[in-house]
Amino acid sequence: MSRSNEPLIFELSSPGRMGVDLPDCDVPSKDLRQLIPEHLIAQEGPDLPEVSEVDVIRHFTRLSRRNFGVDVGSYPLGSCTMKYNPKVNEDIARLSGFESLHPLQPVEDAQGLLALMYELEQFLCEIGGMDCASLQPAAGAHGEMTGLMLIRAFHNARGDAKRRKVLVPDSSHGTNPASAALTGFEVVEVKSNDQGGVDLDDLRRLADDSVAGLMLTNPNTLGIFDANVKEIVKIVHDAGGLTYYDGANMNAILGICRPGDMGFDVMHFNLHKTFSTPHGGGGPGSGPIAVKEHLARFLPKPRIRRDDEGRFYLDQDCPDSIGKVSSFYGNVGVCIKAYCYIRQLGAEGLTEASKHAVLNANYLLARLRGAFDVPYDRACMHEFVLSAARQKKLGVKAGDIAKRLLDYGVHPPTMYFPLIVSEALMIEPTETESIEALDAFADAMLAIAEECERDKDKVIGAPHTTVVGRLDEVRAARKPDLKWSRG
Ligand SMILES: Cc1ncc(COP(=O)(O)O)c(C=O)c1O
Repeated sequence: MSRSNEPLIFELSSPGRMGVDLPDCDVPSKDLRQLIPEHLIAQEGPDLPEVSEVDVIRHFTRLSRRNFGVDVGSYPLGSCTMKYNPKVNEDIARLSGFESLHPLQPVEDAQGLLALMYELEQFLCEIGGMDCASLQPAAGAHGEMTGLMLIRAFHNARGDAKRRKVLVPDSSHGTNPASAALTGFEVVEVKSNDQGGVDLDDLRRLADDSVAGLMLTNPNTLGIFDANVKEIVKIVHDAGGLTYYDGANMNAILGICRPGDMGFDVMHFNLHKTFSTPHGGGGPGSGPIAVKEHLARFLPKPRIRRDDEGRFYLDQDCPDSIGKVSSFYGNVGVCIKAYCYIRQLGAEGLTEASKHAVLNANYLLARLRGAFDVPYDRACMHEFVLSAARQKKLGVKAGDIAKRLLDYGVHPPTMYFPLIVSEALMIEPTETESIEALDAFADAMLAIAEECERDKDKVIGAPHTTVVGRLDEVRAARKPDLKWSRG
């Protein structure tokens, strides 16, 4: 139930009021009844509010101000890299030369865009330490699925089709097991050790000739860099499997280390996290994959290639390709923004971005360490995970703390993930937050920790200042009430 007294547009309706008074149409039009069967034609018009233009503008502007986004305040949603994305990249992606291109336009008309995409593939290979890339997948999870299809194609081509298992650490992001299952593999969980990394003994026990591959995020979802990564890759390779690097956390390592050098065979990037595309509302995203040479022939087709005269073309002649994974060539607008971002920052700037992301996370961890439990208390990378187990003993849950943050004007961190931490609060400040913003977040968290001790009802009943109070989240998801009704 809304706590706001602001009028909704439906309540402002007044008979005969209108926003725009258009002249009658003087273009002859077909009688609808000749085109549409009688029973499909509505007998009455829709019951729309009759309002002026200014009412409409104010209604939607008010609604937009109820929405929380990176352009409004800190958004430390762990695993999501909700950093500020420079607006200039939006402008460039909207240049008419890009925007007006039709995906079916002849390649001769699209040489500029193809050059950009070709170079972006090369940049991503350089950043990831890989040999070849495809920009087709439309999200991280889509990249995972595509990468796993490549792994399957590789084993099948060697007559090794019995490899049906994909290993995923118990700290992995939910999309990893989901992608493996969706691609038809059997998902096998690998335990974490007490340092938050992969338990090597468990991995050795599981790695056999039924394993197609392992999926790993490094730094992992605990924000911890697994220093055993080369050994992990070796164990899987020695068993004949391939290794997949989930690149959603690339924001921690740009220019510092590369999945290819760690030994991975295939990886994806989340352009919408690391490389300048706002996200959170469901897209569009982009999850390009990059591979080592031995997987290149299986990449999705068409591939962007350059002929001897320097002209770009889409090569459909890829007999071993797994086929298309996107209707055209991926979410081009997102690719343009990523290209601009990489060109603007250059190698040095990208490295600085990652160093600052890591510095910011460690600064926050240092400020919050005393007030919350830190289950894996090591230097973190770009994010870290706190536990509200101590607060739970007082009757306050991680979810209550997250809701209370809204009253302090901060977006909550990710909650209850990764699953191996009880009452988890996963915090990723990103490099674009200033010291003042970091301090404001830390001050809010410390104030809430204190409230848990002295005034816990304030936390349990939060949020108090938002337009909508605490929702029944399960009902809101399963039975969403999307219709306005009076009272
Ligand atoms: C570690 C990790 N892997 C994979 C993904 C999946 O990416 P996407 O949401 O683009 O499908 C995410 C998304 O949050 C992630 O954090």
